[in-house]
Amino acid sequence: MVGPDTAPQTPQRSGCLGKAGAPLDGFVPVTRASELSPGAMKWVAIDRERVLIANVDGAFYALRDACGHRRAPLSKGTLAGHVIECALHFARFDVRTGKLLSGPAAADVPTYQVRVEGDTVYVKTASG
Ligand code: FES
Repeated sequence: MVGPDTAPQTPQRSGCLGKAGAPLDGFVPVTRASELSPGAMKWVAIDRERVLIANVDGAFYALRDACGHRRAPLSKGTLAGHVIECALHFARFDVRTGKLLSGPAAADVPTYQVRVEGDTVYVKTASG
């Protein structure tokens, strides 16, 4: 008998292979590209940290899902082109760079490297 699986679902850390079987060092699979249409975003958990994945016209970006102002989840905000706006106090950031564009005094948001292989989106975290 097997009990309920209560382990949190986290992306696998090893065994990631690129198109030609080359390892994707430090990159972890986070979502299917086909699950995130252009203009859409979602958050995933990597090493207990929320990471926001955004599809901007077919290009994927990843940044910490925490506003640089008071850490509200940016995934609750709105995405218009390359600009994400926090739902709480409306700070605006460039999803490509994490740079603060306007809004209350806030820090930039850290970004992560992204790779797409086939239908899989991979993100490289600082610890990866
Ligand atoms: S928490 Fe995002 S603008 Fe204040």
